[in-house]
Amino acid sequence: MYIYTGSLQKNDRRRHNKKSRSSSMAIAASFSSSSLRLLHHTLFPKYPFLSRNSQFRPPLQVFSFRFSPRIRASSAVAIEQDTNSLQQDTSEVDLFACPICYEPLIRKGPPGFNLPAIYRSGFKCKICNKSYSSKNVYVDLTVTAGMKDYTEYKPVRTELFRSPLVSFLYERGWRQNFNLSGFPGPDEEFIMAQEYFKAAAGGILVDVSCGSGLFSRKFSKSETYSRVIALDFSENMLRQCYDFIKNDYTILNNNLALVRADVSRLPFSSGSVDAVHAGAALHCWPSPSNAVAEINRILRSGGVFVGTTFLRVRSSTPAIMMPFRQRIRQTYNNLTEEEIEDLCTSCGLINYTSKVQQSFIMFSAQKP
Ligand SMILES: C[S@@+](CC[C@H](N)C(=O)[O-])C[C@H]1O[C@@H](n2cnc3c(N)ncnc32)[C@H](O)[C@@H]1O
Repeated sequence: MYIYTGSLQKNDRRRHNKKSRSSSMAIAASFSSSSLRLLHHTLFPKYPFLSRNSQFRPPLQVFSFRFSPRIRASSAVAIEQDTNSLQQDTSEVDLFACPICYEPLIRKGPPGFNLPAIYRSGFKCKICNKSYSSKNVYVDLTVTAGMKDYTEYKPVRTELFRSPLVSFLYERGWRQNFNLSGFPGPDEEFIMAQEYFKAAAGGILVDVSCGSGLFSRKFSKSETYSRVIALDFSENMLRQCYDFIKNDYTILNNNLALVRADVSRLPFSSGSVDAVHAGAALHCWPSPSNAVAEINRILRSGGVFVGTTFLRVRSSTPAIMMPFRQRIRQTYNNLTEEEIEDLCTSCGLINYTSKVQQSFIMFSAQKP
């Protein structure tokens, strides 16, 4: 019922994948083993004895940014390429923007929007002269990316999810417990969200605070969207995300990218996104008002925001639960229904609507 077949795009993509596969094979075939050795020495001078088949991979540095970009238009347009760069690499103005100045980043690397192509790419802001690179499976687009001496800590509700253990347990029991508070469960929540997102079909969806990606995978598999960006602040959640999809080729080579970013500093240009999903996340954000303001900024006119969260325990809470209520509020930032609506409308969103079941709320609002 909610499936947008996107057959044209899909066929185009298949044709493109086939074409790029055969052109990569042609490029590979055109190298003799001595030229490959030479290429290896040039790319990895620090690892002259590393076999091409080795399991160990030195940090990827397929881009040098020694090219002089000649940008012809505002988005997704190929720019003049460095003659020194590998033939299959391209440079283009990207969907991702600098988290410092919000100018679109220049991406250099393999073409296409899929997980391996994105994490093998390098990104650069020509305004801030700052480079953003991949951390194995995701691209780090936080303001602190690349900082060596400065470390920043977020509130405990954000830091908790950066732990490897919590990230590992999240989809292996932790998330299932939400049902006790009225969450209908991922399958049902996905169907509900898709209903709200009908106006965004065919567009770009950002799954903000995606955790281990349980909804990002569903959004990607649905083929409802041209691009799905699974975004979280937790490095370990993003690694879990990758672990869940690494053997699923339909997702791996589809339209999904993994991005590390802070919800209060989203790496997208204003008005560039069609849909934002934030499952069970608002209560974990350091500043819900900054986050919703950011979400409003990146949405295009008519774009849709759908979120779920735990509502604040009401005043009818039995007296015996009161001490726990205080403790929970210190860890998480649970809001009331009225506060969530106030937050969305005060940040400029319209058509607010919600569904509530015990402490669970799914709300939706739209960019005017
Ligand atoms: C309870 S999990 C929700 C995961 C998933 N969306 C779901 O529906 O189950 C909350 C997520 O919010 C993320 N988070 C917390 N603070 C964040 C921030 N400042 N920016 C982006 N994500 C954040 C955490 O890393 C965690 O993965």
